[in-house]
Amino acid sequence: MIEADLARAARLKRRPAEPDPGFGVYVHWPFCLSKCPYCDFNSHVRGGAIDEARYLAAFRTEIAHRAALAPGRIVRSVFFGGGTPSLLRPETVGGVLEAIAAKWRFEPDAEITLEANPTSVEAGRFHGLRGAGVNRLSIGVQALNDVDLKALGRRHSVEEALAAVELAASLFPRFTFDLIYGRPGRSEAAWRAELARALDFVGDHISLYQLTIEPDTMFERLRDAGKLRLPDEDLSLALFRATRELTAARGLPAYEVSNHARAGGESRHNLIYWRYGEYAGIGPGAHGRLATPKGRLAQ
Ligand SMILES: C[S@@+](CC[C@H](N)C(=O)[O-])C[C@H]1O[C@@H](n2cnc3c(N)ncnc32)[C@H](O)[C@@H]1O
Ligand code: SF4
Repeated sequence: MIEADLARAARLKRRPAEPDPGFGVYVHWPFCLSKCPYCDFNSHVRGGAIDEARYLAAFRTEIAHRAALAPGRIVRSVFFGGGTPSLLRPETVGGVLEAIAAKWRFEPDAEITLEANPTSVEAGRFHGLRGAGVNRLSIGVQALNDVDLKALGRRHSVEEALAAVELAASLFPRFTFDLIYGRPGRSEAAWRAELARALDFVGDHISLYQLTIEPDTMFERLRDAGKLRLPDEDLSLALFRATRELTAARGLPAYEVSNHARAGGESRHNLIYWRYGEYAGIGPGAHGRLATPKGRLAQ
């Protein structure tokens, strides 16, 4: 099973004769309502309001700078990641897309993805985000178990998460959601049941991440204090294999380590990374990879 997945991933990798995977733009919004205990992303909590107008001005400046380094590109994908970009006002998202369109050109069916947390406050913005031009929503569900959502520091329930998924399915041409598996104290049988339930809600794509204990996180401190019962290597492997088996059986095999899609439902943005294409990184925690006359530039 794993060998077959690796062979498929190898086929998806760009070969010299294959067409260019296109040009992408990653936009990073670094703020969240609270910090989850497992997360080491560049994400921060602020007590007061964030000055989005000032941020938008900074995004415009950075887009202009990157476009000067990589002029004339045609944008296949934009990805708003975080942090929690679903906290952004739709006007700000629209302003960033306008700034990108002013400096580069969009492909006619460009993929515009935004990461959303499924609290009711954020779900209230889905309409506005669709109106601003987002055509693919990526929702951080993380678990279908309220006890575990609490342990993960999440501010939403399973019910809210599934309601947000259904709302996204009705509003956006494409959507995906994330789950974290290998959570403390959970068996393979529990994960199989949870994943099978999740797959009833899936569209053309799902991201399934095995929990990683990252340095300098609350989970690292709890693990070091012996307070997290984490899967051993044998269970981790069994969970990975179960994940491959169940997704493939439902027609969404893995197309890289953690992402699974129906044929044609792969994230175009993700494929740019995996096929070693070019992308501009905008915002404080973004990285980019541009081909300039002086050679490839990793930023
Ligand atoms: C930029 S993050 C989150 C976006 C959004 N703020 C949220 O929390 O839903 C993207 C995804 O990475 C995954 N992730 C983050 N930290 C992780 C960790 N330590 N182990 C496994 N997956 C993790 C989560 O599934 C998360 O949805
Ligand atoms: S997992 Fe998402 S919501 Fe939680 S701190 Fe990280 S970026 Fe923010």
